[in-house]
Amino acid sequence: MKVLIPYLLFLFGFYGTVCAQSYQHTIIPEPVHFKKLQGDFNLSLKSGYRLDSDLAQNGLEYLQEHLLQTSGFTLHQDGTHNIVYTLDRKLQDEEYNLSVQAQNIHIKANSSSGFFYATVTLMQLMDPKIWSLDKVGKVSWKIPAVMIHDTPRFKWRGLMLDSSRNFFSVQYIKKFIDRMAQHKLNVFHWHLTDDEGWRIEIKHYPLLTQIGAVRGPGTKLPFSFYPAMRGPKENVQKGFYTQEEIKDVVAYAAKRAVNILPEIDVPAHAKAAVTAYPELLQDPDDTSKYTSVQRVSNNTIDPGLKSSYIFLAHVIEEVTALFPFEYIHLGGDEVPKKAWSGSAAVNRLKKEYHLKNSADVQAYFFSEMDKTLAQHHRKLVAWQEANRAGSKLREESLFMAWKGDGLGVKLANTQHNVLFVPAQFLYFDQQYIRSKNEYGHTWAGPTDTKEVYSYQPLHPKILKQNRACVKGVHACLWSERAPNEEIADYLVWPRALALSEVAWTPQKSRNWRYFQQKMQNGGLQRLSCQKVYYRHFPAASRQDITN
Ligand code: ACM
Repeated sequence: MKVLIPYLLFLFGFYGTVCAQSYQHTIIPEPVHFKKLQGDFNLSLKSGYRLDSDLAQNGLEYLQEHLLQTSGFTLHQDGTHNIVYTLDRKLQDEEYNLSVQAQNIHIKANSSSGFFYATVTLMQLMDPKIWSLDKVGKVSWKIPAVMIHDTPRFKWRGLMLDSSRNFFSVQYIKKFIDRMAQHKLNVFHWHLTDDEGWRIEIKHYPLLTQIGAVRGPGTKLPFSFYPAMRGPKENVQKGFYTQEEIKDVVAYAAKRAVNILPEIDVPAHAKAAVTAYPELLQDPDDTSKYTSVQRVSNNTIDPGLKSSYIFLAHVIEEVTALFPFEYIHLGGDEVPKKAWSGSAAVNRLKKEYHLKNSADVQAYFFSEMDKTLAQHHRKLVAWQEANRAGSKLREESLFMAWKGDGLGVKLANTQHNVLFVPAQFLYFDQQYIRSKNEYGHTWAGPTDTKEVYSYQPLHPKILKQNRACVKGVHACLWSERAPNEEIADYLVWPRALALSEVAWTPQKSRNWRYFQQKMQNGGLQRLSCQKVYYRHFPAASRQDITN
């Protein structure tokens, strides 16, 4: 067989991978092997499909929905020219082969995600209008003949949206997930709770949303915490997702090969929760005076109270029932230095468990959280601060390193699972360029699309044997500066196009100039067809740059 492999590769035409500079297509992220062939397939009313695996159903349905939306027809079974979906047990999860020839299209995969990704690649070979939201007056679609073999560089390709600081409708969440899926991003990290709002219905604790999801005049939560985006102060801001809505979103994402990582941010960043249930989550005898880095006072759940653990056990039970993903994110970031310093309950906890300081208390808290997750057969994800000496977290826990590289490298080199989310590259709430005319924060950026594209997920200081600890690539859209959908779109796109290629494509096949061409010739047009308010490229003129 060894002797046969080069021969088979040659037959398939993959010998001598196509050079990145050949500008032959606009597929984003760049596939591993691409070869242009002679001729075209014409997809029309006469075309049909053949399916030999149910795993291909989501991919086929996705194509059908877009054909119906744009051209008013769908493929029927067994047409003159067919798209044939075939199971290939030799392929890995997410891997696929796509062959387009004049008479037939053959898609081979061994997983639902593989079939889905082959389908979105196929659609990226078509006129960008296939992504339109309305009829486009086209009844046939030319698809160039190609041979593609593709598989991701990283298993985890994530993007976060913060629904707490500013609330986004279910309809927008679906759009956000859909655009991720089109670019083979597969983990939607949903930041559901923070100081400014608790956005997930928890049946056991109705006040979390009755009180914690409403802010502004006449409510218990002030309109805006520094530096959350200000809107008209006379308006009350509210919004949360019911459990029915969440189930619907989870099912929608699953059809697009996207897992949802829910985040319940504790013990800090919890002003909305402690405002709703102070009697459970705050020690009445606590004399501490503190504010968070975002200048929020008393925003921390007290880890000395038994009621805090009972509360979180109920919350985790309901969250795990809604989200099937193997991971749950429990925050852990930015506990204010002086939180609990005057809590009698925390002092009792310290005595009982011989905890010396606040870091030990946090280690204890996360050990307990991890035990609760284990009862539900879920793994912990947390921000880097949750990794404290003395915490007893399971080996499979995963840490998001957002404060530079140092701790992330250290974690990987001590065999901890890690995702690097460096704010200066992958926080999409930062401005693209430094300018008073740009949306976004300034504290870590600016971060333009080229900078995102230049990001190297495997830090050179990570020892070769520990590279597998880096689980993938992940970016974040915090929403203090994203008060509406247009600005959220602007901050994410086209940076997320670059993200997708960093996460999917082997380093050696990445090329900024070629990627720019693909954006101009296809990537941005596809976004336009979907009415995405993306940031126009290239960047604004030099005089916009103020420092
Ligand atoms: C973070 O940016 N506080 C994780």
